[in-house]
Amino acid sequence: MAERRDGTVLCPGSYDPVTNGHLDIITRSSQVFERVVVCVVNSPLRKNKTLFTAEERKGFIEEATGHLGNVEVQIFSNLLVEFARQLGAKSIVKGLRAISDFEYEFEMAQLNRKLDPEIESIYMIASPEYSFLSSTGVKEMATFGGDVSDLVPGSVAAAMADRLAER
Ligand code: PNS
Repeated sequence: MAERRDGTVLCPGSYDPVTNGHLDIITRSSQVFERVVVCVVNSPLRKNKTLFTAEERKGFIEEATGHLGNVEVQIFSNLLVEFARQLGAKSIVKGLRAISDFEYEFEMAQLNRKLDPEIESIYMIASPEYSFLSSTGVKEMATFGGDVSDLVPGSVAAAMADRLAER
C-alpha cells in the first residue's frame, strides 16, 4: 500500500446513525491519511432532533472503527473550521454519493472555504454498493420494520429497533 499522507483530516457529519457507507469513507480515509478524526456534530440549533445523542453516535463509530489504529472520534459543537484549527487539521474529507449530494456539499465547501481558505474540502466518491445509502433512509426503513442489518453495524441496527420501539 502507498504511504499515508502526513497530518490530520476530519471526517465530519451528523452520523445519526453511522451507516456502512460512512464506515467505507472513514476506512478509505484511514488508508490515505496519517490521522483521521471522525467528528460528530452536536448542534443544539439543528431543526431536526436526532434519534441518538452525540455520545451514543460517537460510541457506535468508536465500536465500528476500533480496529483502525489511526482513527479517533470526537464530538464538536463549534464551527467545523474552528474545530479543524483546534486539532491542527488541514483538510475535511466527505463522501459524495450522487449528483443530489453535490448541491449541498458545494454550498458547505464554499462556506467552509470562505470561513477559512487554508482548510481544504476533499470529496471521496462513495463505493457503488453504498451510493443509495443515507442515515435518513435507514431510519425510515427501520421505522417501518424494514431489514437494515446489512446497511449499518449490528449494534446500530439493534439500538435503532429499541429506540424506535420507545417512541
Ligand atoms: O451532512 P451533515 O452530516 O449534516 O454535515 C455536518 C457538517 C458539520 C459537516 C456540515 O453541516 C458542514 O460542513 N457545516 C459547515 C458549517 C458549520 O461549521 N456548522 C457547525 C455545526 S456545529
